[in-house]
Amino acid sequence: MTKQKILIDTDPGVDDAMAIFFACLHPDLDLVGMTGVFGNVTVDIAARNAIVLAERAGQDIPVARGADVPLKQTPNPVSDYVHGEQGFGDIPAQPTRAEILDESAAEFICRMINENPGEISLCPIGPLTNIALALEHDPSIAQKVKNVVIMGGSLREGGNVTPHAEANIWNDPHAADAVFAADWPVVMVGLDVTHRVVCTPEDFSELAKAAPKLGGFLQDASHFYIRFYEEVVGITGCYLHDPAAVIATLRPELFTIENHPIEVKVDGEEIGQTAISTNPDRRAMQICTGIQAEVVKDLFMDTIKSGF
Ligand code: BDR
Ligand code: CA
Repeated sequence: MTKQKILIDTDPGVDDAMAIFFACLHPDLDLVGMTGVFGNVTVDIAARNAIVLAERAGQDIPVARGADVPLKQTPNPVSDYVHGEQGFGDIPAQPTRAEILDESAAEFICRMINENPGEISLCPIGPLTNIALALEHDPSIAQKVKNVVIMGGSLREGGNVTPHAEANIWNDPHAADAVFAADWPVVMVGLDVTHRVVCTPEDFSELAKAAPKLGGFLQDASHFYIRFYEEVVGITGCYLHDPAAVIATLRPELFTIENHPIEVKVDGEEIGQTAISTNPDRRAMQICTGIQAEVVKDLFMDTIKSGF
């Protein structure tokens, strides 16, 4: 089997780290690059964290720096209360000697898609600003990308930062709306499915035991993250948000799909909501509404445990 090429746009972030280690370790995925975006942390921390994660996983992955603010709205504060000041819970900033690419995230995304027509799954697991900027930079990527598999949004689950909005969409609703308005194949992996898979402290212990360097890092990072979930959500564990999107690029058959055109509310009380659109010009996107939760979780656990 040829490996699935994947380009991850990310704001690491504890669950971003889980997703990136999964992409580095799974034998059927080829992580061709990463781009950093503001969100859980500032864009500078995001780009550095992406490099740090790839290095820790023993891989030399090109990383470009992306947007530091949303397209139009005033930036929301970074989510350090969820992911910690440096993105990995209580773990302090990690040093790296690796360099960030000279080109911007939007330029890098366009170059990679143009050089690999029909082959790249673009997998944004942060706010969609870089993706909207890439579309603006070179609209022809819409015909050349294999698909765009987004962690974000919610069809019927309600929000996680407001009653209506999921965090990645809420952090740049204008960018998200541009991404859903484009004529390209989007797969939305939103709260309808990510809320069905929980990783507990016991799961993190298992990961740390089997793979001390990578699983141990995730376990260390998870304490702060799970404390947030305990206090705010009332569960002892955390949702598998970002890993679910990476897994959907590889094993789409593990998800139930509904096809709907989507529009994003860009103002008012429902700002950041992903709603079914009645606009006949909007293409129907693949919206994940069901998930084989146990299989997805086992795949995540087994893949991280196969590491070191
Ligand atoms: C999303 O928001 C971020 O906090 C997580 O990393 C994930 O991408 C979940 O709503
Ligand atoms: Ca994220």
